[in-house]
Amino acid sequence: MKNIKTIGILTSGGDAPGMNAAIRAVVRTAIYHSCEVVGVKYGFFGLLNNLFIPLQSHSVSQKISTGGTFLKSTRCPQFLQPEARAIAYENIRNQGIDALIVVGGNGSFRGADTICKEMGIPVVGIPGTIDNDIYGTDCTIGFDTAVNTAVRAVDKLRDTADSHNMVFFVEVMGRDAGFIALNTSISSGAEATLIPEIPTTIDQLCNYLEMERRANKTSGIIIVAEGGEHGGAAEIATQVKKRLPQYETRVTTLGHIQRGGAPTANDRILGGLLGHDAVVALINGEKGVMVGRRNDQTVYTSFEEACSRHCEINKRMVEIAYILSL
Ligand code: F6P
Repeated sequence: MKNIKTIGILTSGGDAPGMNAAIRAVVRTAIYHSCEVVGVKYGFFGLLNNLFIPLQSHSVSQKISTGGTFLKSTRCPQFLQPEARAIAYENIRNQGIDALIVVGGNGSFRGADTICKEMGIPVVGIPGTIDNDIYGTDCTIGFDTAVNTAVRAVDKLRDTADSHNMVFFVEVMGRDAGFIALNTSISSGAEATLIPEIPTTIDQLCNYLEMERRANKTSGIIIVAEGGEHGGAAEIATQVKKRLPQYETRVTTLGHIQRGGAPTANDRILGGLLGHDAVVALINGEKGVMVGRRNDQTVYTSFEEACSRHCEINKRMVEIAYILSL
């Protein structure tokens, strides 16, 4: 058991719906365990620039249903410099912060690991990113909302595709991971999915589309994960059009709408559970770990492992997506 009196919390990297639910859970759980909470605004940048705010129970009222992060977030390259980190260390100490919780993705956990190792300050991470690409958890905060947003958008595009016999290439986010694409594809009944994890040639895609046409499909939705080998949806649509000029093609890039909006119930629950468990982990003396959920259990994964291991796409889901689109 560590004697932790004050816990700092920050959000870092891309915002994700459900981050506010996680902050709320951290604040309320810490108060339950008689700890104080200090919010750090703008992520690691706030540590360097003394952007601290005290957080009480009422500070997180009505935040559970909101997207984004009310603590705000940045990507902070300055934190890579040792001189900058020395300033951050002084600021953390002056605030009386005994331990830190970092909500973010892999990049944020590298910063968190450095704080833990260099400064000897206990840090626990909470996986928050729409990309779902973090090793050590079945789901990251924000993923479920992003997929639901993408599915709603694709449902709307489907109406036009169907009415006009068009083939839509819909680009979704995910950086270099295909989780949003694959889940969106299965949920929206897309005709094909292109993800970075499964190499697909343009020829294969065209042959597949032709096969579908022969099966009397008059329109189509192709979900394209950003970060693939052939480029984005626009590039792929151009290449397909060269091979199949008879196709009426359209391109839609969903972009940042996938990052915003009210979190789904799943993301609120995940934020609540992980926020709670991160505080308990710190109180129990854990440090240098991310809290995640696997098979409905809370598990700890070291930052090193979370950052170095790759999150595998579920090959069975890829296969099923293919079968269901025939
Ligand atoms: O990591 C979340 C994410 O939205 C990725 O899916 C995307 O590639 C990236 O962030 C976009 O980053 P930015 O908002 O800085 O353009």
